[in-house]
Amino acid sequence: GEKELLQGKKVLVTAGGTVERIDPVRYLTNDSSGKMGFAIAEAARLMGADVTLVVGKASVQTPEGVRTVRVESAQDMLEAVVGRLPEMDIVIKAAAVADYRPAEQAEQKIKKKDAEMTLKLVKNSDILQTIGSLKTKQFIVGFAAETQSIDEHAMDKLKRKNCDLLVANDVTQEGAGFGHDTNVVRIYDRSGLVEALPVMSKREVARHLLLTVADRIRKGD
Ligand code: PMT
Repeated sequence: GEKELLQGKKVLVTAGGTVERIDPVRYLTNDSSGKMGFAIAEAARLMGADVTLVVGKASVQTPEGVRTVRVESAQDMLEAVVGRLPEMDIVIKAAAVADYRPAEQAEQKIKKKDAEMTLKLVKNSDILQTIGSLKTKQFIVGFAAETQSIDEHAMDKLKRKNCDLLVANDVTQEGAGFGHDTNVVRIYDRSGLVEALPVMSKREVARHLLLTVADRIRKGD
């Protein structure tokens, strides 16, 4: 039954947004609440998996019964994910990771000075792309938050980051994306669109996604 579908599988899920420090009291982040990733972690546990959840900044409580690892920045998240990769069977990257971080982190609170100030940013490593290049047996699911040309951008990310599946949400759509209890997603594999789901609770999206993952693993993809 469904309760044993992922029995014996080690699943790592990332959730929430990363926090990129400017100084001791200021940072850059995004609107991720953690809900999508938490729903996936919970659904994986209900299917019998051994779940590790790597969480950045979240606005709701983490689920029970899963191993939770707290991180702050994209760099922290990269370490936490890459270090655990060898032992994992499935990795699902629902976190909203900052593409850039401040070039320097001030050790003291930055003082107000001129009328204008410039904050220099540098690129973060892409976690999904890194694990996509390191993967051996792992089944990897990426996410994509898009505001336009969703199919094109999703397929580009899937190929570039070497994912087995990619879940895209058009975050401009009603009831989709950041913060909501619902989502509207399109799931892709290397040959294209697999499924376009209607608006569903994040819990239902998570269950649906994991049924698809379990099915693919069973078929030896
Ligand atoms: O947390 P919620 O409020 O429930 O919202 C859910 C969500 C909108 C955050 C989620 O459904 C979602 O879309 N997550 C991915 C958001 C995102 O960062 O998308 P992206 O298109 O910028 O990145 C694509 C993929 O690369 C993602 O799997 C992301 O985790 C990964 N990435 C991006 C940048 C980076 N430096 N490292 C990464 O691993």
